[in-house]
Amino acid sequence: MPKKAICAEIGAWKGDFTSEILRQTKPKKLYIIDPYLHVETYDKAWYGGLDSSQEKMDEVFKSTQQRFENELYSGQLEFLRDDSTKALDKFEDDHFDWIYIDGNHLYEYVKLDLENSFKKVKSGGYITGDDYNLVGWWDDGVTKAVNEFIENFKDSITVISIKGTQFILRKN
Ligand SMILES: C[S@@+](CC[C@H](N)C(=O)[O-])C[C@H]1O[C@@H](n2cnc3c(N)ncnc32)[C@H](O)[C@@H]1O
Repeated sequence: MPKKAICAEIGAWKGDFTSEILRQTKPKKLYIIDPYLHVETYDKAWYGGLDSSQEKMDEVFKSTQQRFENELYSGQLEFLRDDSTKALDKFEDDHFDWIYIDGNHLYEYVKLDLENSFKKVKSGGYITGDDYNLVGWWDDGVTKAVNEFIENFKDSITVISIKGTQFILRKN
C-alpha cells in the first residue's frame, strides 16, 4: 500500500495488523473501525460464543488503545468504535487512499464493506482485505462477496492481486 496515506482498517481486534500498517506504510492518518461488540450468536468468532463477553471486548478495546497511545496522542491514529457501515458513512466520498477490510466476514457484511469502501476510496485508491479463500464460520462469505463484487464492478475496478487470503483491488 502507498505510504503516508489516509487509510482505514475495518476490524482491528488487538491491533496486530494495525501495528504492521503503521510500521510498513507510515500513514498520515489511520482510522481503526471496530465496534468491539460481543455477539453471542457468533459462537465460533473471536467476538462471540462462551469464550467472549462484552466485558472482554471492552478490555480488548482498552488494551488496544493503550498499545497505540503514542499514535493516538499524535493524531496519526483514531478509533471509530462503531459498525463499519455507520462509521464509513461519516466520511465524504473519495476520502481514503485505501481501506483494509477484515471485520464481520459474513457475506452480507463483506458485500456492504466492499460497496461502501468503493464509494469512500478515491479514484486510483485501493480496496483490500483478508480471509479470501477461507471457508471458516462465515461460510466462505468473504470469497463469495469479493468474487461477486469483482464481477459487478468489473468496469470500475482492477484486480491488482489475490494471493493466499489477501486481496487487493484498485478503483479505476
Ligand atoms: C479477524 S478480527 C480482525 C483482525 C485484525 N485485522 C488483525 O489482522 O489483527 C475481526 C474484527 O472485526 C470486528 N468486527 C466485527 N463486526 C464488525 C463490523 N460490523 N464492523 C467493523 N468491525 C467489525 C471484530 O470486533 C474483530 O475485532
